[in-house]
Amino acid sequence: MAVVLGVNAVFHDPAAALVVDGEIVAAAEEERFTRRKHGKSPVPFSTWELPEHAIRFCLAEAGLRAAEIDAVAYSYDADLAPPARDDLTVDGWEGLRTLYVRRAPRFLQASLPGLRPQAVRFIAHHRAHAASATFASGMDPCAVLVLDGRGEGTSHLGGVFRDGRLEVLAAQELPHSLGLLYEELTAHLGFRRSSDEYKVMAMASYGSPSFLPTLRELVRTDGAGGFRVAAVDLDALVPALAAGAPFTAPHADLATSVQRRLEEIVLELAGWLHARTGCRDLVLAGGVALNCVANSRVWRESPFERVWVQPAAGDAGTALGAALQAAADLGDRPGPMRTAALGRSWDEAELEARLRTAGVAFERPADVADAAAGVLAANGVVAWFQGRSEFGPRALGHRSLLADPRHPGNLEKLNDIKGREQFRPVAPMVLAERAGEIFCDGPLPSPYMLFTHRVRDGWGERIPAVVHVDGTARIQTVQREDDPLVARLLERFEARTGVPVVVNTSLNTAGRPMVDDPRDALECFGSAPVDLLAIGPFVVRRAGVAAAGEHARAEVAA
Ligand SMILES: [Fe+2]
Repeated sequence: MAVVLGVNAVFHDPAAALVVDGEIVAAAEEERFTRRKHGKSPVPFSTWELPEHAIRFCLAEAGLRAAEIDAVAYSYDADLAPPARDDLTVDGWEGLRTLYVRRAPRFLQASLPGLRPQAVRFIAHHRAHAASATFASGMDPCAVLVLDGRGEGTSHLGGVFRDGRLEVLAAQELPHSLGLLYEELTAHLGFRRSSDEYKVMAMASYGSPSFLPTLRELVRTDGAGGFRVAAVDLDALVPALAAGAPFTAPHADLATSVQRRLEEIVLELAGWLHARTGCRDLVLAGGVALNCVANSRVWRESPFERVWVQPAAGDAGTALGAALQAAADLGDRPGPMRTAALGRSWDEAELEARLRTAGVAFERPADVADAAAGVLAANGVVAWFQGRSEFGPRALGHRSLLADPRHPGNLEKLNDIKGREQFRPVAPMVLAERAGEIFCDGPLPSPYMLFTHRVRDGWGERIPAVVHVDGTARIQTVQREDDPLVARLLERFEARTGVPVVVNTSLNTAGRPMVDDPRDALECFGSAPVDLLAIGPFVVRRAGVAAAGEHARAEVAA
């Protein structure tokens, strides 16, 4: 029975998680508090910075003090990193990173007065990723595949998890890294490295794999569970794209080719793991596991029956994984993860006080889900702020921006609100029991938006805003027992329109992290053309937007 705080602080997406007696109590990313996207710059100089706000939130959520923590699990082990040399400046200051990790117990003690120094333990980066999928999935036994940019000295882990124990079967050493190759491509296409990889995945739907033969030469599995990535001269294939410049057909072809090769390699690694382990189930984590197109190919084409992906598959998830692993090491049986809604929440009185402070007119409708559904059905955009915020990069109906999927123009409208490129899709949420009628070729249920599904014939025309150029949609299924309020919203929308699907994208404006607290929500509502803010049981209407039940939406005078 232990209190374990997990911390990710080394590269990007600093985060904290709290596991008490094996139960996941809270998890949050630092960016949601500081409003700095990805928390910090992933450079060695920032390694000392801790996710202090997220840590404080986790402890407050459990009503615990630092002195009551049995273990702080830090998701990086300096003993596995390249040894720090006397000259800290070599290898891009890698030694400084290692030095700061070794000093982490002191930094933690400084920010958590009362913490016992011996409480800090280091969990290898990829073991933390692995634990975020194994313990969290509740699948035991299972095979586990971790792929990311890098950990201490490796970029991958393949293993088998049995009776709560991980056996590592393969680990690919750097510099070979699928995640770093994808990051390289992201930067080459004018996007932000280790941030905008999903834009490349979206762009890949627009090209043809004309460079695939070259990529197949350069990137190969090794037959022993690992892979080789030869130096890829992307410039020789297609010139680099300036930030913000429109992409050309060859750029899309390059994105398609790298994406396709990534999918092939992941499939081969999964096939190797299946042959070695004989497991029925596979769990995935690491930043590459946020690639829902690759995940879907694993689900469709690999020999595994079930595939589970950690929703916070990027480095933020190592905070949770490290905590779960340390809890197991201390004798608890941690997990599973029942929801990604592990962040902050506010009760009615607090929300009402915030609305009064903001001085906005608000109402308390009898049924907030119905009020929101009414605005959506009249083609309004709804900012939906309900319950605990999500852990991981996807909005799952707690901090969401919602719209009507029947109007193709809503894709452009939402991308405009969020300052996103127009080639990027928005995703649908759908009632779990109806999902099979509308979507196929992907796992159901799919509660975390980590797979793509094909939109069934006849439905593409009915929900055009959420169908990507390749005929797929990255769906979120909503189960009534897991999320009754979101399920009710979908039901009320269906009652008005006959469509049990709503467009769902994360609640934020351009370049900002997802909204987390009520003030963020009000700022977002105040600065973007959103028609209704549904916050707890209250609604704030844009002037001129009709009340629930009235279908006509009065246009605000221009
Ligand atoms: Fe990682």
